[in-house]
Amino acid sequence: MAFKGEFTPPGDKSVSHRLVLMSIIGEGEMHVTGLSDCEDVKSSLAIFRTLGGEASGSGARWTLKGLGGKFLTNPSEPVELDCGNSGTTMRLLSGILAGIPGIYVLDGDSQLRRRPMERVADPLRRMGGQVETTGGKPPVTITGSALHGIQYNNNDGSAQLKSAVIFAALSAEGPTRIFEPVPTRDHTERMLSAFGAKVCLCGQQEVEINPGYPTLPESFNTPADPSAAAFFLTGAAIIPGSLVTANNILLSGGRIGYLKVLDRMGASIAINMEQEKPEPSGTVTIEYKGRLTATEVEAEEVPSLIDEVPILALAAARAEGVSVFRQVRELRLKETDRLTAIKHQLGALGVRVWVENDDLFIEGTDSFIMPETLDSSHDHRMAMAIYIALALAGKSVPVIGDESIAISYPGFKEDLARLTSA
Ligand code: S3P
Repeated sequence: MAFKGEFTPPGDKSVSHRLVLMSIIGEGEMHVTGLSDCEDVKSSLAIFRTLGGEASGSGARWTLKGLGGKFLTNPSEPVELDCGNSGTTMRLLSGILAGIPGIYVLDGDSQLRRRPMERVADPLRRMGGQVETTGGKPPVTITGSALHGIQYNNNDGSAQLKSAVIFAALSAEGPTRIFEPVPTRDHTERMLSAFGAKVCLCGQQEVEINPGYPTLPESFNTPADPSAAAFFLTGAAIIPGSLVTANNILLSGGRIGYLKVLDRMGASIAINMEQEKPEPSGTVTIEYKGRLTATEVEAEEVPSLIDEVPILALAAARAEGVSVFRQVRELRLKETDRLTAIKHQLGALGVRVWVENDDLFIEGTDSFIMPETLDSSHDHRMAMAIYIALALAGKSVPVIGDESIAISYPGFKEDLARLTSA
């Protein structure tokens, strides 16, 4: 089933989370268009409200009245904050709350409760934060306290950990400096700097933060999510007869590593940049031009395509030759262990997949076998990659756990039906 036509995925999830979470500490009233309507961002919105924030609107249009960190009255009992399935909410919020008086208990659903939180607790403790995990995982209890700046090396290559430290640094004494061996998505620092916080992007791999909260802009337009667009765009590169255009896509360098990889594999991609600031955005068109060739994805590229590995793995599964994704161990720590999930689901389709020393190898094939069901492990990105595999095979089998798609792309199935109906 070829993909044909145009689509606009929801507003970028990473930027949407940051807009809502920055409203906890930012002053002012902000009119947002293009906010993602996904379940993860709803978790951040619910927490903003639990802390006393006013959010009015629906769908993609919201007005957020910044709290300026002024729920500062010491709550006599712990405030319980439900992060749902969202690791981004839990990690970024940990940084925000570490320096604000109060006791906060951050919890989430059964999937989030399996994800590691010591990696965020550790740098926050070094800043003087009081952060307790439950055996290294959620619930995480934070007792807001006086913080001080540190030097932090983002050796895990995680934008969430970097962002938690940046947020904590806004209420810490003295400067904080963050170094990144490999650049990760930089929305937190770019947005805070645009919103008047003392955040300096000193080159691609260094950020310096001095204390002080941001002021929310009067309006903010969120471009659409490149990670959500990746499913149909990659699908178009591998399904004969396809030609799709994704509108208004966020095109910042830390997010479009997958387009560079598809380009290297031989995909026909046209990017039309429409806006440079506050974040670059534009349309992306991909037309099927023939079978892709295998590629090697270097470890340094991984942070710029970390959420796209499940769909790129599908492209590799249909490419000519053996592809390798180097050092993708971070995939084990996502909503599910995506390394294992990719191995099992592509394996179920008859693809040879193996993992050696955290490198993922995939041997391309020109046809799939079709099992009776496929299992997404309740992981939204696995589920969407499986639907693209089914469209490619022209088959329909039950996808276990596909309700998880609403975590990032509630309109995915409608867009799928539309793009395959032409
Ligand atoms: C995100 C960062 C990435 C990504 C996640 C969103 C963010 O996680 O996988 O979906 O918004 O900062 P890590 O920073 O843990 O790699």
